[in-house]
Amino acid sequence: MTSSRPRVFIACVLPPAAAKPFRDRYDAVFNATDRVLTADELVAGSIGAAILVVTATDRLDAAMITQLPPSLRIVCTYSVGTDHIDLPALAARGLTLLSTPDVLSESCADIALLLMLGAARRAVEGLALVRGGAWGGWMPGQLLGSDVHGRRLGILGMGRIGRAVARRAQGFGMRVHYHNRRRLDRALEDGAQYQPVLQDLAIVSDILCIACPGGAANRHLIDGTFLDQMPAGAIVTNISRGDVIDDAALVERLQDGRIAAAGLDVFDGEPTIHPAYRTLSNVFALPHSGSATVETRREMSRLLCDGIDVVLAGGQPANLVR
Ligand code: DGY
Repeated sequence: MTSSRPRVFIACVLPPAAAKPFRDRYDAVFNATDRVLTADELVAGSIGAAILVVTATDRLDAAMITQLPPSLRIVCTYSVGTDHIDLPALAARGLTLLSTPDVLSESCADIALLLMLGAARRAVEGLALVRGGAWGGWMPGQLLGSDVHGRRLGILGMGRIGRAVARRAQGFGMRVHYHNRRRLDRALEDGAQYQPVLQDLAIVSDILCIACPGGAANRHLIDGTFLDQMPAGAIVTNISRGDVIDDAALVERLQDGRIAAAGLDVFDGEPTIHPAYRTLSNVFALPHSGSATVETRREMSRLLCDGIDVVLAGGQPANLVR
């Protein structure tokens, strides 16, 4: 029996609360494996579907996009980032793209603070001491980290997530600077100081938080030159995409102490990561957990489903990328 509801092929496994809106509203077919699908499997799964839902781990390059079946009208990415999708190729195919802005900003900003604190307060070494059973008790000189309060936070990319980080940082007593392509309106700046030149952000960043989009335009923006301009004992954190950092340059400076610590949630080439990030005790690393809360996953699904409904009704939803 064929369903009158639009077929949606969801190329990932969603937690139950996040799968529910898709099951409730559409003829939803889910990735039946527990792995990332190949390009051929994505294309095969899309046959007969009007909507394809992918994540940032699925690569939609031009070659793959040309193979997508004629039944397809909408591609949804279960992410705010779109660097895994060839947007001109999608446009050439006349496909609509929806993403998940706003609903994940607060949870991603929470992870940014976790990364800053984890890196500054030596969480990796502290955990190892407690879990390894080697902790001999409180000592005044034990595992001294550095304060975040009173320090200058440089935010690279002052979009919705960057601004959510800035709000939290102010609550932690940090002074916020930012670099963006364009200066924000005063009200959105909320006291943060604009640095029009990227290298000038380095000079004022006791702690750097990378929150700009990934992709070719921003690849290796944080390179050896930038890192060498940062103050002694600086901390680098990244919640955006791994390719913004030149890993070799950062690792070299983490090893010799020019950069005191890093807090990283995203990695170039993840899940294959620079091996030093697994062993350096001054690297506090998480597995791309920015938006990983039950509530946020549920909201991401709701936003995508609401957007699909608007597009199918001929409208333009707020989460329309193109
Ligand atoms: C996003 O939404 O872009 C997150 O990084 C998950 O991919």
